[in-house]
Amino acid sequence: MQQDNAPPQITVLDAGGQYCHLIARKIRDLGVSAEVRPSDTPATELRGRRGIVISGGPASVYDSGSPRIDPAILDLPGTAVLGICYGLHLMAHELGGGVRLGDKGEYGTAVLRTARQHPILAGLNGETRVWMSHRDLVETPPGGFEILAATDECPVAVMAHAQRPLIGIQFHPEVVHTEHGQDIYANFLFRICGCNKDWDPRGRIPRVEQDIVRIAGARNIFFFVSGGVDSTVAYTLCLRALGPERVYGVYVDTGLMREGETEFVQGVFSRLGATAFHVEDAAAGFLAALDGVTDPEAKRKRIGEEFVAVQERILSSGNFLDGHWILGQGTIYPDTIESGGTAHADLIKTHHNRVDGIQKLINSGRIVEPLSSFYKDEVREIGRELGIPEPFLTRHPFPGPGLAIRCLCAERDEPATRVDAGWILPVHSVGVQGDSRSYRKVLLAPGSPTDAGIHSLATRLINNSREYNRVVVDCSGRLPAASLSVSRCSITAERLHRLRRADAIVRELSAASGFDRQVWQFPVILIPAGTPGRPDSVVLRPVHSVDGMTAESVAMPPSLLEEMSRRVLEIDGVYTLLFDLTHKPPGTIEWE
Ligand code: XMP
Repeated sequence: MQQDNAPPQITVLDAGGQYCHLIARKIRDLGVSAEVRPSDTPATELRGRRGIVISGGPASVYDSGSPRIDPAILDLPGTAVLGICYGLHLMAHELGGGVRLGDKGEYGTAVLRTARQHPILAGLNGETRVWMSHRDLVETPPGGFEILAATDECPVAVMAHAQRPLIGIQFHPEVVHTEHGQDIYANFLFRICGCNKDWDPRGRIPRVEQDIVRIAGARNIFFFVSGGVDSTVAYTLCLRALGPERVYGVYVDTGLMREGETEFVQGVFSRLGATAFHVEDAAAGFLAALDGVTDPEAKRKRIGEEFVAVQERILSSGNFLDGHWILGQGTIYPDTIESGGTAHADLIKTHHNRVDGIQKLINSGRIVEPLSSFYKDEVREIGRELGIPEPFLTRHPFPGPGLAIRCLCAERDEPATRVDAGWILPVHSVGVQGDSRSYRKVLLAPGSPTDAGIHSLATRLINNSREYNRVVVDCSGRLPAASLSVSRCSITAERLHRLRRADAIVRELSAASGFDRQVWQFPVILIPAGTPGRPDSVVLRPVHSVDGMTAESVAMPPSLLEEMSRRVLEIDGVYTLLFDLTHKPPGTIEWE
């Protein structure tokens, strides 16, 4: 196994490619330690690596300011280098080969024809399917290189130096669409770099525990646990390493969580052996902070501020800032890498609302982050090994501000109005068009969520409107839309109760039918549209997504919709059940 503080065998240099982290993951899947570093990391810092992979990236080597490498990495003794896509162009360019803009781009699958045998292509015979995504290409390999394979559009799809361990590949072996992708990485690691197997996320548990013991010394650890996977797994590792008396966990119940959530989290922790676990009931404070607030950004700001206030209170009342304690956090690897796209977003989010006391602990190094070298799926695997229940590990993502961003508010009383395409509901929700945020009304279109072709309706209508950014249809089929009106409101205990009930019913029925496993996330939203006796309606928003950046609205089985409709309409104060047809973009997943 990888020794303490030993450098990993492989470094992936990040040239801005969306697949960069995937490369590191694939290498680890093959049992070899790998890290991600910025593309221009000096060669002196990479001495001793068995291999370096230069990732792809969106730039052209001829763009000014495009990512560069230290050319000395191509001469490191005992280190093989593999350039992928842009990494191939960089290698060719540095060594005097010819790179030019292709006549047309090559995107998608292509047929690779092998021209010459080489260890990197071992196991690939004749023709094989590969995934291409490039405009620039290598026209003439640098001196000493041989062309190993080509496609119709790309004369140098694989090249290798005849004597030195330098290889360049135009396609992306890390994506599933490349037939023998994993074989190519295995060839690079084991046939070319001579790597040994030193990475097993499960075998690492005892080592992570040793690290925790070493870092904590005589001090105890406290955690703010969110109920999310990362903080739960990190907390559990600390429990095992130090024993339950020395690890104190606090879960802040904001009152904005789903039905049964606090009890669920408590149950999970008690089964994991936590004894010093405390639930801080802060619901009244959050409700007071949200009273009268209708604007989405203002809601988020109030929640953030309240959270900071609660954490400060807990830190000072529990004397956690004295020298006997260090802070545990569930930070995972992508959160720690400055060059990673998501890392930036996360940093912005956390720094925004960082508690002073916590910042001081971090600045003075009184912090332990047991998962900081793992990716999300590795964290899940570790969680499984630790006996954390599977349904907990594979839960849909749930936003930090909780139901507050699914409980929509309105500034004034206003009736629905008739337009050609349906009825405009004057409830504003957030959307995204291009790179900018929209905040617009909702169109209630005629029809039912089970009508054929209805899912393509929303984008077409929204593209032609400046008034609304979302399209919903009614699930009950009996709606007199003319009687709908929106009433002025903010978040109240009564409205949260309605939303929590609706959400619980939808979760129960979608779990029982297996539908929850067909979607990535399934928000349930409460909007203040109805009649005076039944002032709110519930919206279903099941979506497919890969990473939350884009999403598609998903059709539901009619029988499940009928059952949900029947049960949700039994909730006191709920007028009707609606279905959100909007994809992201132009909608967002959450309504806010
Ligand atoms: P949107 O609404 O932007 O959501 O399409 C994309 C994904 O991000 C989640 N989300 C959040 N997660 N804190 C979180 O931890 C937040 O403040 C937050 N806001 C949105 C959302 O649930 C979806 O998965």
